[in-house]
Amino acid sequence: MISYFKNHLQGKLLLSYLAIILASALVLILTSRLTIDSAFQNHLGRMQQAQLESGEAGTGEGAGLRYGAGADKSDLDIENSPGMSLYANFQASFREALLWSSVAALFVALILSFLLSRRVVAPVRAMMIASRSIAEGHYDERVGTHGSDELGQLAQSFNQMATELEKTEEMRRQLIGDVAHELRTPLTTIKGSVEALEDGILPASPETYELILREAGRLNHLVDDLQELSRVEAGAYELNITPLQLSSLSGTIEKRFGTQFVEKRISFASHIPENLPTIQADERRLFQIFSNLLTNALYYTPEGGEVSLEASQVGNAIEVLVRDNGIGIPPEHLENIFTRFYRVDKSRSRHAGGSGIGLTITKHLVEAHGGSIWVESEGNNKGSVFIVEIPIK
Ligand SMILES: Nc1ncnc2c1ncn2[C@@H]1O[C@H](COP(=O)(O)OP(=O)(O)OP(=O)(O)O)[C@@H](O)[C@H]1O
Ligand SMILES: [Mg+2]
Repeated sequence: MISYFKNHLQGKLLLSYLAIILASALVLILTSRLTIDSAFQNHLGRMQQAQLESGEAGTGEGAGLRYGAGADKSDLDIENSPGMSLYANFQASFREALLWSSVAALFVALILSFLLSRRVVAPVRAMMIASRSIAEGHYDERVGTHGSDELGQLAQSFNQMATELEKTEEMRRQLIGDVAHELRTPLTTIKGSVEALEDGILPASPETYELILREAGRLNHLVDDLQELSRVEAGAYELNITPLQLSSLSGTIEKRFGTQFVEKRISFASHIPENLPTIQADERRLFQIFSNLLTNALYYTPEGGEVSLEASQVGNAIEVLVRDNGIGIPPEHLENIFTRFYRVDKSRSRHAGGSGIGLTITKHLVEAHGGSIWVESEGNNKGSVFIVEIPIK
C-alpha cells in the first residue's frame, strides 16, 4: 500500500489532493472557530445598540434588551426585538465567519497547490530544458532522477535515451572518421598506381592491375556493408520465410568456408543433425547469419586453431553454437560487441577492412526471425562462442 503511493504518480497526486483538502478543511474549521465568536459578539453588540436606541425612543421596558455586565442570553427578548432577530444575527455572524474562513482556506489551498504542483512540474520542466539542450547538440545533458514513481522512471528513461544518443553521436563521428580513413587508403593506392602506370613508373603487369582491383574490392565491400546496414536497420528488406531444415545449409557452408579454413590451417567441424525440427526462416538470410559468424571466427582465430558449428534443439528452439578458440573477447567488450561500428581492437580490424558492422547486421537478422543472439567468452585468447537461438514455430 505504502509502496503504491511511493512508486506511482497517481498515488502521489491523490495524496497531495487529499492533503490540500484536509489542510483547507482544517483551516476552515479553525478559522471559523476563531472568527465566529467575535463576529457573533459584534452583531450582538450592534443588535443591542439598535434595541437600546429603539427602547429609548419609547418602546417600553418589556421590549427592551439588557445586555452587558451581569446580563445573560435569557435576557434577550428575541421575539419582541425591534432590531435584528437573534436568528438573523446568528446567520450574519455565521456568513461572516464562513467568508473569512473560506478566504483563509482558499489561501492555504492555493499555496499548497502551488508548492505541490511545482514539485510535480519541476522534473518535467528539467526534462524539457534538457531535451532542448540535447536538440542543440549537447548530448552530455542529464536530468536528476528522484523517486521511483513514473516521473522518476521517465527521468531515468530520458537519461538512458540521452546516453544512447551520445553513444550514437560518438559512433557517428567515429564512423565518419573510420569511413574516411577506410576510403582514403584504397583510394590513395588506386590513384597512386594509376598515376605510376601513366608515368611509366609501374609496369602494366597483371600484378599492378590485381593490386588496383583488390583495393577497389575493399571499397566495394565497405560500401556494400554500409548499404546493407542501413537497409537492415530501417527494416527495408523482405524475408522470404519458408519451412526449413537447418541441415540443408551444411553443403553451402562447407562449400563457402571449407577451403578458407584449410588455407588458414584451422580445423573446422560442422555438426547440424538432419532430424532437427523444421524452422520458419529465410534460407538466404540464415546463411548470411552463419556466414558472418564464421567469417569472424575464421578471422579472429589464429592459424592452427579450431572452429566448430553445432546445432541442437533446446526446448522449443534450435540453438546454433559457433565456437572458436581464437583471440577471445575481454568481458568489458561483450555487451557492446553487437553495437554498430564497435570493434574490440580498432587498429587491428581496420587493416583488414573490418568495420564492426557484421555483428549488427547479424543481430538484426536473427531478431527478424524472432530469435536472439549472444556471445560468451572468457577473455583474451580464451576463444568465443556465439549462440543463435531460433524458435521452432
Ligand atoms: N569470433 C570472434 N573472436 C574475437 N572477437 C570477435 C569475434 N567476432 C567478433 N569479434 C569482435 O567483434 C567486433 C565486431 O565484429 P563485427 O563482425 O561486427 O565487425 P568486424 O568483423 O570488425 O567487421 P565487419 O563489419 O567486416 O564484419 C570485431 O571487430 C571483433 O573485435
Ligand atoms: Mg565481422
